[in-house]
Amino acid sequence: MYEGKFYRLLHPRPTVVIVTKCPNGRFNLMPASWNTPVSEEPPTIAVAVDKESYTHQCLRHYKYATINVPPIDAADLIYKLGTTSGREVDKAAQFGVKLEPSSKIDVPRMSGALAAYEAEVYKEVEVGEVVLYIFRVLDVWTAPGVADQWGFDFKKVNIPLHGAGRAFYRVDPRPVFAKK
Ligand SMILES: Cc1cc2nc3c(=O)[nH]c(=O)nc-3n(C[C@H](O)[C@H](O)[C@H](O)COP(=O)(O)O)c2cc1C
Repeated sequence: MYEGKFYRLLHPRPTVVIVTKCPNGRFNLMPASWNTPVSEEPPTIAVAVDKESYTHQCLRHYKYATINVPPIDAADLIYKLGTTSGREVDKAAQFGVKLEPSSKIDVPRMSGALAAYEAEVYKEVEVGEVVLYIFRVLDVWTAPGVADQWGFDFKKVNIPLHGAGRAFYRVDPRPVFAKK
């Protein structure tokens, strides 16, 4: 039996930052590396959100969020956002994160993000200490010039893959092409 936590072998994982609208009247930011696309039709993304996080309360309060893909350069910021709670701290103000208006929902996206999904809670599945929020994607924004139909251009930009604790990895920009 593997001695570490079982999920360690499923890391590193792309980390997103969820922006929510909260009962305290603020917008809050929470990094989440337990996320995945779920279905194409409807377009959905699932994120496992701890029931103890303020984000969970904020999603109960207002069922829209942006799911932001930050750049690897934001690793320090991501770590700070993931080790403080919006219950106590106005994270955007404290960490100097600017917020940009979304096009379809009243929750902003994170300035400096490489991409952002505007989304609405579609389904919730309670699993142990988390709620798996399945979001329906309403709109997708990308920073100019960083992505094409196949995704990000990793020669130009990179994304934070969360390993464990404070460790983040980059995507190696050299693809490995499988044989036909
Ligand atoms: C890189 C990183 C990834 C994280 N991924 C998740 C996650 O997928 N789900 C989760 O509930 N918490 C995750 N966390 C922890 C939350 O971000 C953390 O509990 C945060 O303080 C909650 O903020 P809030 O109370 O303002 O919502 C992660 C933290 C870091 C640093």
